[in-house]
Amino acid sequence: MDNRVRDRKLRDKIVSAEEAANLIHDGMVVGMSGFTRAGEAMAVPLALAERAKKEPFRITLMTGASLGNDLDKTLAEAHVLSRRMPFQVDPVLRSEINAGEVMFTDQHLSQTVELLRTRQIPPVQVAVIEAVAVLEHGGIVPTTSVGNSASFAILADKVIVEVNLHHPETLIGLHDVFIPAQRPSRTPIPVVAPESRVGLPYIPIPPEKIAAIVITDKQDSEAKVQPPDAETRAIAGHLMEFLKHEVKQGRLTNSLLPLQAGIGAIANAVMNGFLDSPFENLKMYSEVLQDSTFELFDAGKLAFASGSSITLSNAMYKKVFADLDRYKSRLILRPQEVSNHPEVVRRLGTIGINTALEFDIYGNINSTHVGGTHMMNGIGGSGDFARNGFLSVFVTKSLAKGGAISSVVPMVSHVDHTEHDVSVVVTDVGLADLRGLAPRERARQIIDHCVHPIYREKLNDYFERACHRGGHTPHVMEEAFSWHTNLKQYGSMMPEARAAAE
Ligand code: COA
Repeated sequence: MDNRVRDRKLRDKIVSAEEAANLIHDGMVVGMSGFTRAGEAMAVPLALAERAKKEPFRITLMTGASLGNDLDKTLAEAHVLSRRMPFQVDPVLRSEINAGEVMFTDQHLSQTVELLRTRQIPPVQVAVIEAVAVLEHGGIVPTTSVGNSASFAILADKVIVEVNLHHPETLIGLHDVFIPAQRPSRTPIPVVAPESRVGLPYIPIPPEKIAAIVITDKQDSEAKVQPPDAETRAIAGHLMEFLKHEVKQGRLTNSLLPLQAGIGAIANAVMNGFLDSPFENLKMYSEVLQDSTFELFDAGKLAFASGSSITLSNAMYKKVFADLDRYKSRLILRPQEVSNHPEVVRRLGTIGINTALEFDIYGNINSTHVGGTHMMNGIGGSGDFARNGFLSVFVTKSLAKGGAISSVVPMVSHVDHTEHDVSVVVTDVGLADLRGLAPRERARQIIDHCVHPIYREKLNDYFERACHRGGHTPHVMEEAFSWHTNLKQYGSMMPEARAAAE
C-alpha cells in the first residue's frame, strides 16, 4: 500500500466505497474515469447504484467514453442517470436513451473538457478516478485509460480516487498528461509526432482536493474481439490495395502516416489487415489501442502507438501486462482532448479509419442512428479525425441483417459526417475514392464500387431518375427515405418485400 498511496497523510482518507459514494448527492454533475471500457472506477458507481435502490436520486454522468463491467447497465437499471455524456455502448442504457428516459449528449470526444473548462456546460462537482497510485504530492497515476480523467480531477471540487491493485505498477510512466492553457493565451500543443512526450506522467492536483480513497482489485472488461470474417478481410484488402497505390503515386511513403482506427469489430479486423501488408515502421496516433495494435507490435510492423486507452481481450491483456516493459517505450496514453485534438490530427496528418452504419450515394455518413432515430453508440472520436486528418476513410459491410439492409442508401437517415469530411468509403464489395469529386461523380464511384450487387441496380435506377430531375446533388426527395420506410414496414429495404406484403 505504501507504494500505491505514497503520501502518508492521504492514507487517512481511505474509506469504503459506500462512504465515498455518500459524497455524491441528487442532482450533481459527476465526472468518472473510463474510456472504451478501460480504466473505469467501479466500486463507487456500484455503491451509488445500491444506494439508489433505497434512496432514489439522479446525476449527470460524464466519462471519457464507454464504461466497462456493465456499469452503464447497472446505473441505468438503478435509474441513477438523468444525463449521460459523451459516449456509451451499453444496450440497456441505449434503450433508456431511446425511450427518452436518459438525456444523452453525444459529443465529439475532444470537446467535452473544453466545454467544461470554459463553463459552457455545468461544472463537474465530484470526480471519481481510477488510479494505479497516488504519488507523494497528490499526483494521480491513471490506469488503462486517461480519457477525460485529468480535466475532471483538475476542475472538480472534490476527487474520489479508486486505487486499483489489479493493474501493475509498471503502468507508472506510461501516461502523458498535457492540459491546454485557457484562451486567449493558449499556445500550440507541442505534439509533433506520435511519440512526443509533452506533459506529466500523472494528473497534477493538490492533495487536499482528494476527499476519499477507495482500494479496489478489479479487472477491466474483456474486449470482445471478433476474428476477421470474409467481409472484413475483403474490406481490409481493398484498403491495403488503395494505400499501396498511394505509395506508388508518391503521396505516401511505405510507413504511411499515423493511423487512427475506430472502435468495433470492423475497425479492429481492418487493422489486422496491416499484418499481411508491405507497410513497415507504422505508427498509430489513435484513441483506443485494441488487440490489433499489439499484434502489429509483435509482428514488427508497428513502431509506436499513442492513444487514450488500452482495451484488450483477456488473453492479450495477460500477455501485454505480464511484460509491459517490452512495449512501454513504444506506447503513450494521453488525455482524449490531446489524442483527438484537431490541431494535432491536422499537423500529424492521420489516416483515420472509422466505421459507418450506412452511407449514401454522395458519401454522407451515418455512424450513430439506426433508422434515423435510434441511437446506437455515439459519434465518439470519429469526427475529430474525419474532419482534420490526411485521409478520412469510412468502412462498413455492404449488407446488414442478412441482406435486409443495404449499408449504401439513397440518402442517409442521419448525418454524422458530411460528404465534405469523407475521402474514401470501403465495403466488402470495393472502394470508392471520393477525393476532389463533385456529387454526381461521387455517386457514380459509390454505386459502381461499394454497393452490394443485390441493391446496385435499384440504387442506379434511383440515381438516374434523380439526375433526370436535375440539381447539384440530385435526389428524388419523396423517395429518398423509401428504403428505410420499407425496412421499418416490411422488414427489408428490398422493394420486393413491400410487393410481397401487399
Ligand atoms: N442499419 C441498422 N443496423 C445496422 C446497420 C444499418 N445500416 N449496419 C450495421 N448494423 C448493425 C449490425 O447488424 C450489428 O448489429 P448486432 O449488434 O445486432 O449484430 C451492429 O449494427 C454493429 O455492427 P457491426 O457490423 O458488428 O460493426 P461494429 O461492431 O464495427 O460497429 C458501429 C459499427 C458503427 C456501431 C461502431 O463502429 C460505432 O459505434 N461507431 C461510431 C463511433 C465511432 O466511430 N467511434 C470511433 C472512435 S471512438
